[in-house]
Amino acid sequence: MTDVAPFVELRGITKRFPGVTAARDVSISFLPGKVHALLGENGAGKSTLVKIISGIYTPDDGQILFDGHPVRLHAPVDAERRGVAVVHQHRTLVNDLSVAENLFLGHLGPEWSIFRRDSLIRRAHDLLAAVGLDLDPATLVKDLSPAAQQLLEIARAIGREARFIIFDEPTTSLTPPECEVLFGQIRRLQARGIAIVYISHDLEHALALSDEITVLRDGAVVAHEVGLKDVQIVVRHMIGRTLDAGYPRTRTASNDEVLHVSSLRSSRLNGVDVRVCRGEIICIAGLVGSGRTELLRAVFGLDNFDSGKITLKGAEFTPQSPRHSIRAGMGFVSEDRKQQGLVLDLGVAANLILGNERPLVRFGILSAERERKVVQQAIKSLRIKTSSAKTKVGTLSGGNQQKVVLGRWLSRSTELLLIDEPTVGIDVGARAEFYRLLDDYAAAGGACLIVSSDLTEVLGLADRVVVMRDGASVAEIGKTDMNRENLLRAMTAVAA
Ligand SMILES: Nc1ncnc2c1ncn2[C@@H]1O[C@H](COP(=O)(O)OP(=O)(O)OP(=O)(O)O)[C@@H](O)[C@H]1O
Ligand SMILES: [Mg+2]
Repeated sequence: MTDVAPFVELRGITKRFPGVTAARDVSISFLPGKVHALLGENGAGKSTLVKIISGIYTPDDGQILFDGHPVRLHAPVDAERRGVAVVHQHRTLVNDLSVAENLFLGHLGPEWSIFRRDSLIRRAHDLLAAVGLDLDPATLVKDLSPAAQQLLEIARAIGREARFIIFDEPTTSLTPPECEVLFGQIRRLQARGIAIVYISHDLEHALALSDEITVLRDGAVVAHEVGLKDVQIVVRHMIGRTLDAGYPRTRTASNDEVLHVSSLRSSRLNGVDVRVCRGEIICIAGLVGSGRTELLRAVFGLDNFDSGKITLKGAEFTPQSPRHSIRAGMGFVSEDRKQQGLVLDLGVAANLILGNERPLVRFGILSAERERKVVQQAIKSLRIKTSSAKTKVGTLSGGNQQKVVLGRWLSRSTELLLIDEPTVGIDVGARAEFYRLLDDYAAAGGACLIVSSDLTEVLGLADRVVVMRDGASVAEIGKTDMNRENLLRAMTAVAA
């Protein structure tokens, strides 16, 4: 290791925000041709370091060296010029521009002319193919699924001819086959001598992919290991103790149907049948584009459907709007929390009780007290890392923002929870806590319908799995037949 000089080196980097020290005297070296995983709980300071290396934040103290020379990065363009490309945790694409325009945004110069158009389109096709995306470069970004958008961000970073690529939670909306494509690309980049930083809460993936890891806790480096493959050791570094990766099961499923969807059809759905009873956690598995999200949206009243029937607690239910569905007892946590779930300018408390004002106000004078209790409990049980209940949600780390959305629904009286990708970007400790809360919720008679691309999570969590393919439910798998192979086979329709 000593014979290779680091491409980027952090020395004693410190960054403070009001009430938090997000980076504390951090020193890390990033070597060419190596994958370096940055790990740590939600709010540990990973994205803060990414933003410092990419010129978005200026550190309060310490030095950044490129090729052994100290540099000052005044803006992202300074980092880009030195060969840094970032796939940020939150998407940074421009919705109203095309795929091709997003790929080359800010990197076009005068050649974005009619003469170069063809060659750029060809280049766009190559980049898209590299991440396994088969789409027309003229498509507008807003028409792409979250997964396709994520792959596009990755394609854009690859296309920057960078020497240093940072992936901050790149797999959040990718299914296993898409992850494989990404990992193949990362290996190729690595073989070309590019230095890679990989940030993920999927510790198995992070360890499989990385040559070395650095673990952060409360902004400080608590461990640096080379060639470590043991997840439990990383967990101990991250949270100071080990976890049994358990999925508690105190609930007992009933036959009391809360939701019954039959033959649902719409422009994106092709015949879906699902039922969820009180006390049950049902997972929907399927590839990206299989219609999983569309199903949840239709049930919640965000999209229309053409035919079929939704029955809620025994009575036919025609969802009119999310408000109507919420009143009927549903909660919905969407995949794109940043866009649909949160008001970034409001505080943590306000976001937790958002849309919940009425039931709390009903108790008149007690409401403020009750509200404070609900908020404190959510912050505590989901371990939301925030300096106060008033802190603006927009300044929380990515994972902590997601916890706020989950906390909002778990802390109120819903009978049916629809959750799209519940734990992507959420750290191991909070994940275990969340599984426990979900089991409590079901044990108390709640019904859950969960879309997840994480098959380990599906296998651990589900009482039954409904597999979707091409907009239709194609298989229902009970506990006895539930294993990875059966799920993947049904998802991909590979002949048995
Ligand atoms: N712009 C900001 N203003 C105020 N506080 C901030 C800001 N950015 C980050 N923080 C705080 O710094 C700490 C570290 O946040 P950071 O986003 O680096 O965490 P992270 O390790 O990336 O977490 P996650 O896994 O949830 O993405 C958090 O407490 C966060 O609230
Ligand atoms: Mg982050």
